[in-house]
Amino acid sequence: MAVDKSEMLTSIANASSLTELEDLRVAYLGRKGSVTQSLKAIGGMPPSERGEAGKAANALRLEIEAALSAKEGELSRAEVESALSTPMDVTAPGEAPRLGHRHPVSVVLEELVDLFWQMGYQVAEGPEVETEWHNFEALLVGKDHPARDMQDTFYLEEAHLPRTHTSAVQIRYMQEHKGDLPIRIVAPGKVYRNEDEDARHSWSFYQIEGLVVDQGISLSDLKGTLEQMMRGILGENTKVRLRSNYFPYTEPSVEMDATCVICAGSGKLAGKVCHLCSGTGWLELGGAGMVHPQVLRNVGIDPEIYSGFAFGFGPERLAAIKYGVDDVREFWRPNFKFLEQF
Ligand code: DAH
Repeated sequence: MAVDKSEMLTSIANASSLTELEDLRVAYLGRKGSVTQSLKAIGGMPPSERGEAGKAANALRLEIEAALSAKEGELSRAEVESALSTPMDVTAPGEAPRLGHRHPVSVVLEELVDLFWQMGYQVAEGPEVETEWHNFEALLVGKDHPARDMQDTFYLEEAHLPRTHTSAVQIRYMQEHKGDLPIRIVAPGKVYRNEDEDARHSWSFYQIEGLVVDQGISLSDLKGTLEQMMRGILGENTKVRLRSNYFPYTEPSVEMDATCVICAGSGKLAGKVCHLCSGTGWLELGGAGMVHPQVLRNVGIDPEIYSGFAFGFGPERLAAIKYGVDDVREFWRPNFKFLEQF
């Protein structure tokens, strides 16, 4: 096959850019390139001619390869040199990097932490893998207590489990600080449960726990604190009501509701039943109560001298309410179209 070596070498020598050189490489050495074709043609020659022709074609391939790589070195050096000798235009617009932003649930958590910080609270943290004792027993949820069913979960070895609520942090913090009262903490963090997923439930979610222990703490302190917090997060006109409930670790126990952010507590929206609160005017937000005296005893605090309140609620639900999101699962999907709205 006729391939003109000197013509190829001249074209390589005259290439003026790396792109042009790449086109030549494809034209000569690519799958359909002329050198490749002449190598392939050898198979069809009479055996006596193959040896000579093969040697020649291989030598040609090597020579072309060497010429291409020498020219490539020359051209890239030239490109770098010309870039270096061109003065930089400091007024040219920069390329803006794509910046992320805080996740809506983080925004709400930070707002909450900030509100409590202003009320003199510290932020406490605990491990996500807890002992059964911290997560349940110390909070008066014994092995056979029916309240364990409400927080059905996965168990790990040796009486450990992924914590089912941030209430475990109360126990750890009181044990560590019982000699250093009063206590005023909030504990945000992730919790894990064996849940069937739906628009309002997920196997892993955030909670924020609060705990105050001091002399003379009463239910009205709890109500005032929750009201202050809800006004800060949902708006100045928000009202809070407490309803009777049951948790093993508080006595009395309450459920905390806030006035609906959409219908402002009226239960009606443009003459129809409000879809967020289903017409009740109230939104259920979390649990709370006065710390059970036996819980204080369990960590070595004397309930004859000290009392306390505690509360726990879910920032995802708060974020969903605040931003009008129907399905909390959206928060944890890698869906930028959704997340970028906040
Ligand atoms: N731990 C409860 C839950 O996960 C919430 C809760 C209720 C926390 C009452 C408290 C409390 O501190 O006093 O459902």
